Amino acid sequence: MRPSDLPSLSALHEECFPVRYTGKFYAGAVRGTSADGKGRLFSEVAVDEGREEAAADLGGGEGGLVPARELLAGAEGKAAGEGKADGIGAPGSGYIAGGVITQFNRTETLKEFDVLDEAKYPLIMYILTLAVTSSYRRRGLASQLLAAALAHAASNPSCGAIYLHVIAHNESALRFYERHGFGNVGVLPDYYLFGGRQHDAYLLVRYANGASRPLGLLEAIAGYLGRAAESVRGWIWGEGASNPSRVHA
Ligand SMILES: CC(C)(COP(=O)(O)OP(=O)(O)OC[C@H]1O[C@@H](n2cnc3c(N)ncnc32)[C@H](O)[C@@H]1OP(=O)(O)O)[C@@H](O)C(=O)NCCC(=O)NCCS
Repeated sequence: MRPSDLPSLSALHEECFPVRYTGKFYAGAVRGTSADGKGRLFSEVAVDEGREEAAADLGGGEGGLVPARELLAGAEGKAAGEGKADGIGAPGSGYIAGGVITQFNRTETLKEFDVLDEAKYPLIMYILTLAVTSSYRRRGLASQLLAAALAHAASNPSCGAIYLHVIAHNESALRFYERHGFGNVGVLPDYYLFGGRQHDAYLLVRYANGASRPLGLLEAIAGYLGRAAESVRGWIWGEGASNPSRVHA
């Protein structure tokens, strides 16, 4: 992204989120740095095809700008030009139709939820925002943007998972992330404040690079007992004969 994308990026966020982001957030996002200037952001945005100069940023290292039409054409079974595609290239050409903004955080940020083996996977990718403007939805655009973020996470072997917070009543986002393999690992009561009241959030996680959730004590004991039962069965009935009633001469 570039500084001139700031108004379009902030319009996307103002339309899609009830939470208001600061000027520092947007200024950092277009520069590729977090609002405090300390972290690096990876972002990918889909722009309307009418924006010629966007093509120059395609494939840029820390994310970039991709014509929305190209992303939509890549979405399975939903090529641009079919179905509801008349929103592409519509009046307002040049605005950002969708975007994802992410950053790597230390795994210890989520210590209390015990989602990862921190020694093996010291990093975890946070999705700060993922949004698609309403007239472009349900055509696979967010799926494509998420795929770019997941590929970025997968390219760093220290990263064991991708996570985000979602407002508890945001059914469409919950369905979207569920569809993409995210699990709900915890509730954060009163996490968001907007509209004069507090709102709970869910913490959603999807594992990457072969990671999985560390076993709790009870799960570890259950696993051990299960394996022990298997070996006793094998000892009584012979190797591999877990169900003797199915053994025929
Ligand atoms: C959530 C959001 C990003 C989805 O964008 P999108 O481009 O419409 O998503 P996709 O087209 O890639 O959807 C893929 C799948 O997600 C699920 N999904 C997406 N929107 C859904 C909805 N409103 N209801 C139910 N399922 C939905 C569906 O399974 C969908 O597949 P389908 O269209 O074949 O049924 C978009 O609705 C949005 O920007 N919402 C506001 C911002 C937000 O809540 N962001 C998430 C928190 S960071």
